[in-house]
Amino acid sequence: MLGVAGGIAAYKAAELCRALVQRGYTVQVVMTKAATEFIQPLTFAALTGRKVVTSLFSSGNSEETLSSAVEHIAIAQEHDLLVVAPATADILAKFAHGLADDFLSTLYLAFTGPVVLAPAMNTNMWRHAATQANLEALRARGHKIVEPEDGFLACGMIGPGRLADPESIADVVAEQLEHRHDLAGETVLITAGPTQEPLDPVRFISNRSSGKMGYALAEAAAERGARVILISGPVHLPAPRGATVVPVKTAGEMRDAVFGNLRGATMVIKAAAVADFHLSTVPQQKIKKTAARLSLELDPTPDILAELGRDKKDWLLIGFAAETENLEREARRKLQTKNCDMIVANLVGGDESGFESDHNEIALALKTGEFLRFPRASKRELADEILTQALHLRHVLAEPAHER
Ligand code: C5P
Repeated sequence: MLGVAGGIAAYKAAELCRALVQRGYTVQVVMTKAATEFIQPLTFAALTGRKVVTSLFSSGNSEETLSSAVEHIAIAQEHDLLVVAPATADILAKFAHGLADDFLSTLYLAFTGPVVLAPAMNTNMWRHAATQANLEALRARGHKIVEPEDGFLACGMIGPGRLADPESIADVVAEQLEHRHDLAGETVLITAGPTQEPLDPVRFISNRSSGKMGYALAEAAAERGARVILISGPVHLPAPRGATVVPVKTAGEMRDAVFGNLRGATMVIKAAAVADFHLSTVPQQKIKKTAARLSLELDPTPDILAELGRDKKDWLLIGFAAETENLEREARRKLQTKNCDMIVANLVGGDESGFESDHNEIALALKTGEFLRFPRASKRELADEILTQALHLRHVLAEPAHER
């Protein structure tokens, strides 16, 4: 589905449309009312050989238009991807906030597949905090943003805002469609969130993990066609679409849930921040306040990842290393000692990435000896990167060593 919103760059959507048709895709064009002020639906109807949708309700005004109050559901279900070019500040705001007052914004809400957005607008509108906040929300949802280019704009300004080149938008569409089913047939077991280790009936020790990275991985893997089992410590996040969630509280419960659900797994991703220590015998009554100092003797919890590494089968094993210093050294050490195929390493302790943030800056230590650093990005974007690297790594590890 190609959504065309009402901006001066709407005419370039015709070129994108042609590029997509040339690549062999069936393209259904959906135009906003404002877009039809810039370019005729007939252009797209001629390029695609299909009627163009221009409004939510039938008005019967043109042969090339097709619409009905429920059409957006049917169209959403029949298609594999939605690309919007140009995506105006207005349509980005509607998508970000879930407004649905025309066909395109309604279609967006009814569609569950991958979304590619190619914004184009005046430089000041692009830089406006409202637009940038909307883009952040859309990125966090896993949508791919094809950044506008710098250049002369129709309004006379020079700066970012010009629609990306139609061929590069078509490349991103092709890449997203390739991703779409690349985890089909896989069973991905993911752990996420903190664990809570009780001290008495009302108190516990835990940590700052929000679960966002593990949940983003679960959502991304499910979208790419995997069966996903998400073993989750206590978090405040909605269940990712398409994943089976197994809620747990303690490290011990997490261990049992992991081994109980391991059958059939092709990838195991241990994103959870498991407590390292617990009280092995929890008092039955609340610990009383006394004037004296209180000492607690803690015992180690089971190291689930190390146990998985010792008992390694043909699943790909991915661990996490949240460090406050010596990232590369610690990541490589954990890769070795826990017998993993990949360690996702990130620095924690700052405000901008790590535990509670929607963003992260990660590096990957791979069994091949490589150490790959990635720029700061949303956890959802990084989730896709980790999965892509995991698939690639498995492919490389399957080759005989001398051919690597
Ligand atoms: O050794 P460290 O705790 O830093 O290693 C982090 C990795 O080990 C994470 O992937 C985490 O999920 C896993 N882990 C575990 N069981 C523990 C502690 C950590 O599986 N008890």
